[in-house]
Amino acid sequence: MNLAVIGCGYVGLVTGACLAEAGHDVICTDVDTERIARLQSGIVPIYELHLDKILESARKSGKISYTANAGDAIRASDAIFICVGTPPKENGDADLSAIDHVARQIALEARSSKLVIEKSTVPARTGLELRHALSAYSRNSGLTFRVVSNPEFLREGTAVEDFFHPDRIVVGVEDESSADQMREIYRPILERNFRRPVHQDTCPVTSKALLLVTTINSAELIKHASNSFLALKISYANVIADLCEKIGADVEEVTHAMGLDPRIGGQFLRAGLGFGGFCFPKDLQAFVHLAGTVGVDFDILKAAERVNKQRIDHFLAKVHQALWVVKGKRVAILGLAFKASTDDVRFSPALEVARRMLAEGADVHATDPEAIARAKAIMPEVTYHHDPYQAVRDAEAVLICTEWEEFRQLDWERVGQLMARRLVIDGRNLCSPALMRELDFEYFSFGREAVRGGRVGVGVGQ
Ligand code: UGA
Repeated sequence: MNLAVIGCGYVGLVTGACLAEAGHDVICTDVDTERIARLQSGIVPIYELHLDKILESARKSGKISYTANAGDAIRASDAIFICVGTPPKENGDADLSAIDHVARQIALEARSSKLVIEKSTVPARTGLELRHALSAYSRNSGLTFRVVSNPEFLREGTAVEDFFHPDRIVVGVEDESSADQMREIYRPILERNFRRPVHQDTCPVTSKALLLVTTINSAELIKHASNSFLALKISYANVIADLCEKIGADVEEVTHAMGLDPRIGGQFLRAGLGFGGFCFPKDLQAFVHLAGTVGVDFDILKAAERVNKQRIDHFLAKVHQALWVVKGKRVAILGLAFKASTDDVRFSPALEVARRMLAEGADVHATDPEAIARAKAIMPEVTYHHDPYQAVRDAEAVLICTEWEEFRQLDWERVGQLMARRLVIDGRNLCSPALMRELDFEYFSFGREAVRGGRVGVGVGQ
């Protein structure tokens, strides 16, 4: 099928690349002409595992192409995926101006009827507004635009795998023929009949994906309800961690045992600095806002939001307790991305920690396997190091802010030798307290025993 993708952010690019690898002809467009030019010359503007390889493979096979002319993309396609941004407004509501702009473009540029698929995360009822906008903007053209809501559940860092192996594909439709067309688009994924240039040998053994056909409003609600529930789960685990600290229990023992109950499940119970990124914080806000506008009390989500905002305060309280005076001290921040396996720093708790440390007059050094360039553009005052051992050199404290496996795997004895003082404040419960004790570190994390004592290092290092 001929598909267009409007919006070449991470969701648009993953969707375009994976559907091209699934055998469709995909044309991608974006208002950012520079981004399109880079994509045309084979440069992938974001870091997402496997994405560069599948984009290259799709480009070579001629299955994917890019244009800065949205009209060309619209006219060349039978179905159009809208993957534009819906950033939060001041009041928490989602800003839908990009969706409105695209609706106008589609209505004015199309020369034949289209299936218009809303993939951007939007509040419930947006699809119905979109249908209305499409027919209003295309008045008297004689064309019909059928709208589908097809929310994405991709996680940054594993988005390609998630696309090829989803646990569910949700399509919100108004008529059976739209559902049939969506089934056709996703047939290669549902039948597992797609090219797998990257993970050919390591395809996870998962049950086959389900395609769920719902109404448009339900599909939109499913997305926000899922993200908000996961955010709620994280905040719940974080409150349990606070309780563990006060009572003298271990949050990992508690959440592990809780998670073994299939009604609860073990995922998203990792305590720490809380959730960040461009999805959970904004989706939670938008969902609370939506509930408010229809008179439904969603205080439970407001509490989850409040708990999450307090995580940084809790973390900094630990830093103050351990370091006493922060001003003038050298601290090393391990991790800048909002989570591991991505270079995305939007709403990253790590950047908020860095900002607050700088405001207190600390000499902040930081490292991250992928996110340095993006962090530097926002916060040039920090000294960045690609080598984590350089970042920790002479530091009086190491603050772990992102759960990169690379940090767990560090030679922590070497880290201790390089530091001025063996002090680690772990915002992601990444290290083991037992190892830290063995290596003579002072070590603080969330909801687990603190390791006091520690050795004063020489702070020279290699
Ligand atoms: C999230 C959802 O997981 C996806 O299903 C959804 O498609 C996506 O939002 C979206 O709406 O686009 P993502 O934002 O990529 O995906 O990241 P997650 O893996 O969900 O993590 C979100 C945040 O929660 C991160 O800051 C992470 O460090 C934190 N987190 C996660 C915890 O603090 N504890 C946990 O147990 C899990």
